[in-house]
Amino acid sequence: MKILDLKSKVFMAPMAGITDKPLRRLVSSLGAGNMVSEMVAIQAIQRKNPKTYRIADVRDEPYPVIVQLVGGKPEQFADAARLAADLGAYSIDINMGCPVKKIVNNNSGSALMKDLPLASKIIKEVVKATPLKVSVKFRKGWDINNVNAVEFAQMCEDSGASYITVHGRTRSAFYSGTADWDIIRAVKQSVKIPIIGNGDINTVYDAQRMIDETGVDGVMIGRAALGNPWLISQTHAYLENKELPRKIPVSEIKRFMLKHIELLSEYYGQEMGLAISRKFVCWYCKNLREAKRFREIYTKINDYNEAMKTIDEYFDGFGEEER
Ligand SMILES: Cc1cc2nc3c(=O)[nH]c(=O)nc-3n(C[C@H](O)[C@H](O)[C@H](O)COP(=O)(O)O)c2cc1C
Repeated sequence: MKILDLKSKVFMAPMAGITDKPLRRLVSSLGAGNMVSEMVAIQAIQRKNPKTYRIADVRDEPYPVIVQLVGGKPEQFADAARLAADLGAYSIDINMGCPVKKIVNNNSGSALMKDLPLASKIIKEVVKATPLKVSVKFRKGWDINNVNAVEFAQMCEDSGASYITVHGRTRSAFYSGTADWDIIRAVKQSVKIPIIGNGDINTVYDAQRMIDETGVDGVMIGRAALGNPWLISQTHAYLENKELPRKIPVSEIKRFMLKHIELLSEYYGQEMGLAISRKFVCWYCKNLREAKRFREIYTKINDYNEAMKTIDEYFDGFGEEER
C-alpha cells in the first residue's frame, strides 16, 4: 500500500537534536528515503520561539519533509499545523510516542496513549486545520500492563490519520530491550490505513524481515543510521530491487563527514556547528580502528582548522580500506 504519494517506503526516524536540516540534506543527497523533522514543540511555536520556528521551516529543502509536532493542547496543535503548512511541511506527523519525562509531564508524547479521547481530539483538530495529510507516531503502549497499540491505531484511523508509525516498545522501556514486532503485525491486521514499522531495524535484511513478518507498508530506521546514513538509501534499493548494500570506503566516510561538518557550520555558525559535530564524528568512526583515541582528541577541539587537521591525520592512515 502506498504511503501518501511518497516515492519510498523507507523513512529516516525523527530524532531530536539529530535529524536537523544538515542531516536531512545529506541523507537525501544519497538517494531515496523519506525525511521527518525533529519534533517541534507546539507551545514554543505559539510563543514565537525563533529556534523552534527554524526547526519547523523546511521551505528551502527540495524533497518532502514531514514535520513532526509534539504537544498536548488541541487548539495549539491547530495553530502549529497551519504554521507548519506555511513553512513548507509536506505533511504533518503527531508525536504520541516520546517517552521523555519533560514531554510526558506536559500531557504530550506517549502520555497521550493514556488518554484516547484527547489524542483523538488532537488528531481531528490537526486534520481540520490544513489540507495537509496527518499521521501519528506512537508506541506499543504505556507499559507492559497497558499495551493498547491496536486500540490506539483504530482510534487514529477513525480520527482521520492517513498513516501511522508504530515503535514496538512501551513508554516504560524507553529505548531498552528489543522492539516487539508482533504488536506491529497486530496493528497492521487491525486497520486499513498504511502502517510503518519501527524499532530495531539495523540492516537492509532486517527491513525486509520486518515487512515479511508483519506486513507493514513501510519501515522507519533510527539509531542504526547514526554514523551510517547510507543505510537509508541502501534499504530502499534492497527493498525495491534486491540491490545488495556495498561496503563504504573509509575515504568516502571522511568526505561525507567533512561535508556534514561544513553544513553544520553553515547552519548553526562555526563554533556551535563544531560542537554539534562531535557526536556525529563519533558515530561516523564506529568500528574503525583507533576510533577511541581519535574521539577523545576530536571531542576536545574548539578550533575549526585544528578539527580539520586532526581528521586528516586520522583518516589518511586508512588508505583504500572499507567498512
Ligand atoms: C536521540 C533520539 C531522539 C529521538 N527523537 C525523536 C523525536 O523527536 N520524535 C520521535 O517521534 N521519535 C524520536 N525518537 C525515537 C525514534 O524516532 C525511533 O522511534 C526509535 O529510535 C526506535 O527506532 P530505532 O530502533 O530504529 O532506533 C528519538 C530517538 C533517539 C535515540
